[in-house]
Amino acid sequence: MCGIVGYLGERPILPLLIKGLHRLEYRGYDSAGVAIVPQAGGDIKGLQLFKKKGKVADLVAEIGSAEPQGRAGIGHTRWATHGAPNDVNAHPHLSGNGRLALIHNGIIENFHPLKESLAQRGHTFESETDTEVLVHLIEEILAIEGCDLFTAVRNALAEVVGAYAIAVIDTQDPDVIVVGRKSSPLVLGIGDGEYFVASDATPIVEYTKNVVYLEDEEIARISLQDGLKIRTIGNHTVTPVVEALEMEMEAIEKGGYEHFMLKEIHEQPRSIADCLRGRVRLDHGVVRMAGIDDHCEMWTAASRVIVVGCGTSWHAGLVAEYLFEDFARIPVEVEYASEFRYRNPVINKGDIVIAISQSGETADTLAAIRMARERGAHIFGVCNVVGSSIAREADSGAYTHAGPEIGVASTKAFTAQVAVLALVALRVGELRGKIDGATFGRMLVELQSVPEKLESILAQEQTIVEIAKAYAHAPNALFLGRGYNFPVALEGALKLKEISYIHAEGYPAAEMKHGPIALIDEDMPIFFVATQDAHYEKVVSNMQEVKARGGRIIAVVTRGDTHAAALSEHIIEVPKTADALVPLLSTVPFQLLSYHIAVLLKRDVDQPRNLAKSVTVE
Ligand code: M6R
Repeated sequence: MCGIVGYLGERPILPLLIKGLHRLEYRGYDSAGVAIVPQAGGDIKGLQLFKKKGKVADLVAEIGSAEPQGRAGIGHTRWATHGAPNDVNAHPHLSGNGRLALIHNGIIENFHPLKESLAQRGHTFESETDTEVLVHLIEEILAIEGCDLFTAVRNALAEVVGAYAIAVIDTQDPDVIVVGRKSSPLVLGIGDGEYFVASDATPIVEYTKNVVYLEDEEIARISLQDGLKIRTIGNHTVTPVVEALEMEMEAIEKGGYEHFMLKEIHEQPRSIADCLRGRVRLDHGVVRMAGIDDHCEMWTAASRVIVVGCGTSWHAGLVAEYLFEDFARIPVEVEYASEFRYRNPVINKGDIVIAISQSGETADTLAAIRMARERGAHIFGVCNVVGSSIAREADSGAYTHAGPEIGVASTKAFTAQVAVLALVALRVGELRGKIDGATFGRMLVELQSVPEKLESILAQEQTIVEIAKAYAHAPNALFLGRGYNFPVALEGALKLKEISYIHAEGYPAAEMKHGPIALIDEDMPIFFVATQDAHYEKVVSNMQEVKARGGRIIAVVTRGDTHAAALSEHIIEVPKTADALVPLLSTVPFQLLSYHIAVLLKRDVDQPRNLAKSVTVE
């Protein structure tokens, strides 16, 4: 969702902010803007503000040949919440007197009463946004004699209910940026005599690896003269902790691929290997995971696992349900975080909540773990982004180590989540004495062979391109699978719909007879996952039912299959593996298929309409 970038230093500021905005594009947005404070005593008077509906390229066109100057600047990509995506609602927003500019991610829930009381005191507003209310509130507090910007921001945020990451600049303090956060991430980059501010590390990594992650309810004043000072909203001093950024530039560039999504699909052999590295010791036949090993007794005694997540991460949770039941024999419930957080769930002592999130910032998942913790659950996080909010708030956890995922459609993050969850289920099964040594050892061998098997699936890309050509213009599609491949069917449908805008549904194959079968005709592609596992014969029966009604079948099958293949117009082969690991393979053909259909339809693959990479509002 919205992205924040800020810079304080001597570099040419406009190109740096624009580059930062480009780096943040993947988060999803519909307008962009920048504001730069002119230097004291110079010819330029007042904030230099540019904002535009559309892409960063539209903003650049709007700026044209203007050459704003200064040492402090902020930039923003806005994903509309309060008010339409247009030039006026785009950030930055200015105070009534034009002295301050502010950018904001998140939602100010009490903006209505704040706006009304400000209006009663004479404030007028140009935009429909909640953000403009905040900058007016800061302006009003700043007008109190003796108040400085740091204090004004702190006092204003104390009145705010909601989620925010903000950055503010002040024409009367041209070498300063004040930032603050609550439930929305903010990273500060510490350079040599320069500072960077961003929603995530992608705009920063090019310049410095020294970062400070601002914590909830912390406010920072960054000054070229005085350095970095952090206080809490409650006015306690915080000593900044500088951490080393674990990110390389190549991870956030396309590396010769046309889209990030395609690059990330092809990275999966490596990302799965990275995920297993150091955790699976084939020579000793062991799984080592600190997040589990440090809490052996808790896992041994666990009475239930509740998995929460959204979207693709929720699908990984569904796979986890099968894994935990098969290997660890623990009752599992898988919940949409957005529903779970507003229910009144019964959480007992001994319940473990697994929160799955690529970004680690999804608002509903974050709220769900906070609620579950309050009720006594232990929170185990499965996140990809190191240092993200969910990773930091979890009691224990395991990173997926998939590397930055920039394409909005989640691909390598999903397979890495499944791989981590398989390791967790195996390790916990071992601790609880629910898995025999032979099965355990065989699963480790199978896991280690996944990267190589993924390579052989990726090598079939040209076959998948041909299938994509045959079905790119279908208005609807159905994805069917059973057992471990039921979540794969859901994930296949989600991938297709989110980047191609083709209506697609995923179903357990047997459920087809209870409704979706009515949709089947000769124009309807039905994508089956028919790998040779425990459900193979049943799935083949479902394929026959579709075939009998003239449906067009495309099937993901096990290499060498003839039976399911004979019922299909097109097949994509995946190597044989253990049933529990099939999702790691069978999901990849659907990723490639969705990608190539979206390309054929000329969709914006990496930034599909209306979607955001990191959904930081509920
Ligand atoms: O960052 P998270 O894993 O928490 O994100 C959850 C969903 O927003 C995400 O998986 C979304 O469904 C993807 N666009 C799917 O490709």
